This record gives sequence, C-alpha cells and structure tokens, in this order.
Amino acid sequence: MENYILCNCKNVSYFDVEDALHAAKSLDDVEKAFADVQEITHCSTGCGGCHDKIMDAISEIMHR
Ligand code: FES
Repeated sequence: MENYILCNCKNVSYFDVEDALHAAKSLDDVEKAFADVQEITHCSTGCGGCHDKIMDAISEIMHR
C-alpha cells in the first residue's frame, strides 16, 4: 500500500496514523483512538479540514 498525506497542515501521513494507532490505548472506540492519534501526531490541530479523512483512516486500520 502507498503512503499518502492525510493532514497537510501538520504533514501527517497514513503511515504516521497507523504507527500512532499501534501506540494508542483505546482501540475499541474510534473517537478515543482519534484523540490518542491526535495527541501523538498533532494531526487535525490546524484547519481541522482533515478530520473526516483521519477518522476514515482510523476506522479502516482498526477494522482490517
Ligand atoms: S489538514 Fe489537518 S489540520 Fe488542516
């Protein structure tokens, strides 16, 4: 699979989100997983426009 940028403001890629998810503690809950990923990568702390893309990526990674 090819890596690509999910959050342009903070330059956070799909693989960054995946790595952060491996360190996250709350994998049963997408909202909490998002909070953990955000804390680690700072994604979605700029314009916020990437929020949905990141949520989609998180649920995709969690459910495969
Ligand atoms: S693109 Fe992620 S905060 Fe702007």
